[in-house]
Amino acid sequence: MAFPTVWKDCTILCVVFLLSFVRTARGQAVQAENVTVQEGGTAQISCRLQNYDGSIVVIQNPRRQTLFFNGTRALKDDRFQMVLFTPRLVRITLTNVSVTDEGGYFCQLYTDDTHHQVATLSVVVPPETPSIEVATDVVEGGEAKLTCLSPRSKPPASLRWMRNGREVPGVVSQQDNGKTVSVSNTITVHVERRDNGAAISCEAAHPALGNQRKVRHYRLDVHFAPTVKITPPQGIMREGDSLTLTCTVTGNPLPRNIQWSRVNDTLPERAEIVGTTLVMSRLSQSHNGTYLCQAHNNYGRAADHYNLLVYENISVTPTSIPDTSIPTSLTSTFAALPKNPGAVVETHSAVPYAVIGGVLALLVFTVICVLIVTIWCSVRQKGSYLTHEASGLDEHGEVQEAFLNGNDIRDGTKKEYLL
Ligand SMILES: *[C@@H]1O[C@H](CO)[C@@H](O)[C@H](O)[C@H]1NC(C)=O
Ligand SMILES: *[C@@H]1O[C@H](CO)[C@@H](O)[C@H](O)[C@H]1NC(C)=O
Ligand SMILES: *[C@@H]1O[C@H](CO)[C@@H](O)[C@H](O)[C@H]1NC(C)=O
Ligand SMILES: *[C@@H]1O[C@H](CO)[C@@H](O)[C@H](O)[C@H]1NC(C)=O
Ligand SMILES: *[C@@H]1O[C@H](CO)[C@@H](O)[C@H](O)[C@H]1NC(C)=O
Ligand SMILES: *[C@@H]1O[C@H](CO)[C@@H](O)[C@H](O)[C@H]1NC(C)=O
Repeated sequence: MAFPTVWKDCTILCVVFLLSFVRTARGQAVQAENVTVQEGGTAQISCRLQNYDGSIVVIQNPRRQTLFFNGTRALKDDRFQMVLFTPRLVRITLTNVSVTDEGGYFCQLYTDDTHHQVATLSVVVPPETPSIEVATDVVEGGEAKLTCLSPRSKPPASLRWMRNGREVPGVVSQQDNGKTVSVSNTITVHVERRDNGAAISCEAAHPALGNQRKVRHYRLDVHFAPTVKITPPQGIMREGDSLTLTCTVTGNPLPRNIQWSRVNDTLPERAEIVGTTLVMSRLSQSHNGTYLCQAHNNYGRAADHYNLLVYENISVTPTSIPDTSIPTSLTSTFAALPKNPGAVVETHSAVPYAVIGGVLALLVFTVICVLIVTIWCSVRQKGSYLTHEASGLDEHGEVQEAFLNGNDIRDGTKKEYLL
């Protein structure tokens, strides 16, 4: 810093020297404008002149080091450039502005009565996209403590947590790091298994960002013990069939390995494990047993079981219904039958019963119908005569009475009479 000091001293000497020679006009003035710029950007520092008469213009930085002495670079910092020097305006630029460049820049005019004005340079530091820190292991039924962090901004950024479009209130704290501020927002949320993978985000807002926000998205990682479920096959298993048992596993972290085993026994020789499935082809009764699928992670373990019963292969389908009088030749066939599930036997025997029952019902129905028709016809025959009789002999109460009495002999006589 020897160089600027030399220049500063020189400036004063020069000013003193020059002031004795330079004739200054009345009414000379300088005006400075305040500037706000983003860190890393370029600042324009302007000094407006009024009634400039060729006096010396000096521009100094906040530490009162002379940057330019009447247009000539004084401080060796290439970030400063003199871009304009007219009788109305002197302008310098400062590139790659940092927060340490902040402060008052002096525009000084050496005249009889020395004018100076200060242009205040303000530097704003927009926040980066915040980061998210998870304090502890997040386990179902517990609490997740999430901290959103914006390590550097100026003025302080405002941070908020959002979940499903709503703000999650948190505890905000700020820490001053000299020129910039570090901001954090911590929330504590109760988590269940269903929250695993739920989206949550932290937004940073800042004047330098306008309406934009820097958003960090996060998905909750809720650890939980595994669950295990074996999908059982449809129907019953018979010798010669092949069986595929699929084990569906959940858990966070997802268990890497699942174990297949048989209770009190080893897995059959031909059993094949493919991923999460156990495949046994050509079943025999030696495969009977309880099969287990087990999985574990750091948060617990789980198992599901399947009871396998292999039934005898039936090559002979029973064709007759079990009867009290079983022929001796069929005894062996039926001896095997009780081993088969009732459902299968029932399906076979139910068909003839239903057919016979149907036929019988149809027969009875037909007989009843025939009877009804016969009775109806005979009644109708008699009725028609009586109707004719009634219409024809309406005045004769005698006959009406006779009809009401329903005398057989009279009926007969009436028939003859009419014919
Ligand atoms: C420039 O900034 C300074 C310091 O912040 C303030 O005192 C002054 O009034 C400002 N000048 C103008 C013209 O805004
Ligand atoms: C200062 O610089 C201006 C512009 O270059 C010039 O017109 C003026 O004469 C200079 N003044 C002195 C005292 O050198
Ligand atoms: C800008 O300044 C920073 C330090 O303030 C420096 O790390 C960076 O390299 C500079 N960038 C350029 C383009 O000069
Ligand atoms: C079981 O019966 C089926 C057909 O009825 C046959 O294809 C299969 O080979 C038999 N399996 C055994 C082990 O007898
Ligand atoms: C396994 O063996 C134990 C003891 O011998 C017995 O109590 C248990 O019922 C058996 N389990 C099965 C599924 O066979
Ligand atoms: C297997 O299970 C079936 C059905 O319960 C049974 O009939 C058979 O005897 C069992 N076989 C063995 C070897 O346990």
